[in-house]
Amino acid sequence: MADDTLHIAVIMDGNGRWASARGLPRTAGHERAHLSVESTITAALECGVTHLSLFAFSSENWNRPDEEVALLMQPGCWLLTDEELASYQQRNIQITFIGNLTDPRIPDACSDWLRTTAQRTASHNPRLRVTVAFNYGGRQEIAEAVRAYAATSKGGKQEDFGQHLWSACLPDIDLLIRTSGEHRLSNFMLWSLWYAELIFTDTLWPDFRGIHLSNAVVEYQKRDRRYGTVSS
Ligand code: IPE
Ligand code: IPE
Ligand code: MG
Repeated sequence: MADDTLHIAVIMDGNGRWASARGLPRTAGHERAHLSVESTITAALECGVTHLSLFAFSSENWNRPDEEVALLMQPGCWLLTDEELASYQQRNIQITFIGNLTDPRIPDACSDWLRTTAQRTASHNPRLRVTVAFNYGGRQEIAEAVRAYAATSKGGKQEDFGQHLWSACLPDIDLLIRTSGEHRLSNFMLWSLWYAELIFTDTLWPDFRGIHLSNAVVEYQKRDRRYGTVSS
């Protein structure tokens, strides 16, 4: 549990409400999201965060209107623009994706973009590993892992089970931030969040900036993580 990693996860919520409050279509809120992502990634680097996980599209988000889903299936247009990707590559920031990435509902152009983005930013020793949860569901992740675990090993340890998760290469989440005033997990990284500290902010994702991340890290550092024991 105590190591030199710091894993922050963010449920980036409130894009639709940000747009509605301005009389704009919901998609306009998504189109601003990359500015918050860029600012958050930059602040994460400055704060010594080693792992940043961002919830971009849930397994339940397919139930949204077609035009909204169509935009969300173009993450190069709303989440990580080409210019920003070049800057991430330059700063040795690795971008990877977890979720059901072989889902046939994902358009080919999107699958290609996910693959090339991961290839383009691949690094053996990145300064920051950014994991984007895309077509991701926490229950689905656990169910898949159960299937893989049952197929490969019998009577193993809990740690062995964790190796079959999509998030197997990530440390447990230390801090979860959810924007937009909602106080729920919405099926996000249910296994890795087991002892995470939680911070909820009313700020809508398009208004979220690096300073909000830095402030959350300061608040996190004041928390007493006990893991079921007593304070020392
Ligand atoms: C989060 O913002 C972005 C995604 C789910 C892709 P929302 O689109 O959920 O915004 P609200 O919650 O409706 O305001
Ligand atoms: C969670 O937000 C998913 C992402 C941020 C990608 P939602 O807006 O989909 O969650 P609910 O429906 O409010 O719980
Ligand atoms: Mg929402």
